Amino acid sequence: MTTPIRVAVTGPAGSIGYSLLFRIASGSMLGPDTPIILQLVEIPQAMNALEGVVMELEDGAFELIAGIETYDNPNDGFKDANICMLVGGMPRGKGMLRADLVQANGPIFTGQGKAINDFAADDVRVMVVGNPCNTNALIAMHSAPDIPNERFSAMTRLDENRGKAQIAKKAGVGVEAISNLAIFGNHSNTMYPHFFDAKINGKLVPDVITDHKWLKEDFISTIQNRGKEIIDARGASSAASAASAAVDHVRSWYTETPKDDFVSMAVPSTGAYGIEPGLIFSQPVRCDGKGGYEIVETLELNDFAVEKLKLTEAQLKEERAIVKDLLK
Ligand code: NAD
Ligand code: LMR
Repeated sequence: MTTPIRVAVTGPAGSIGYSLLFRIASGSMLGPDTPIILQLVEIPQAMNALEGVVMELEDGAFELIAGIETYDNPNDGFKDANICMLVGGMPRGKGMLRADLVQANGPIFTGQGKAINDFAADDVRVMVVGNPCNTNALIAMHSAPDIPNERFSAMTRLDENRGKAQIAKKAGVGVEAISNLAIFGNHSNTMYPHFFDAKINGKLVPDVITDHKWLKEDFISTIQNRGKEIIDARGASSAASAASAAVDHVRSWYTETPKDDFVSMAVPSTGAYGIEPGLIFSQPVRCDGKGGYEIVETLELNDFAVEKLKLTEAQLKEERAIVKDLLK
């Protein structure tokens, strides 16, 4: 019998949680042979709602679920957790930027980072979905000084998935034909989807999609503003697609990335592409299948791309300045 993996999820009574938990339980994230103990961490006011979600999880009769535990505090909730998915926090509403959430959500990540530092398993990996996710991951990382920095990441997989879908639609191909799409920077309206090195069936995107005005303008702006477009249309922020991207993010982290491809994760900068070390900056990575990864540093960026990276780096520095009191 394989030892179950302990997966802690914050915000499990929320909209993303409602999609995410059932995907995790079905084996989409860690595969069909990995039993899972779910550690669901909510705020005390949401514990009733969480009980309802737990009843539904039980009713799913998921064979991989070896246990479901609920907690109203992070210290107990992250105990022995191998994977922490930090989803909980306020979503933005119409007319807001993700960065507007930092005052409300930022402080959540000091307590959670410290709890992970003190109580999680030695091999813990942490991914942040709650917005603004790069800066919240930075706060959590700073609050967990005993855990190696590279164990912290923020989710830009939704942006990668959105980008691949738009390119596939434009080229009239299936999304599986798209590879090597690097997302750089902040999960925000300055994020840069680097289409120059992306491929369609192995051919560079700019060689296949000859409408370069579309690539440089409409494509980038569609991905940067997709979250807002969804809020305007739905009246609520993306949930099912975010949950799906979170599943993809963790699955990729524990799967060996094909040598000729990469995935995008916001991880601590080590100085690649001239980005200030320590910022949580989305970049292309290749995972080793054991929870490790290396940053793909070999893309040759042209002036257009370098300018985009500088813009999104500057925004992350601004967000960091706003939360400086939360960074130890
Ligand atoms: P939601 O309001 O539906 O649910 C949030 C849940 O988090 C609630 O159940 C709430 O009780 C819980 N929560 C709040 N504070 C908590 C805490 N300290 N500990 C544990 N749980 C806590 O929101 P949602 O739609 O599920 O979105 C959650 C977050 O994810 C938002 O910040 C949203 O902006 C973000 N998001 C990020 C991405 C991304 O691509 N990175 C995509 C979509 C949404
Ligand atoms: C998204 O990209 O859909 C999420 O980050 C939600 C938002 O606020 O845009």
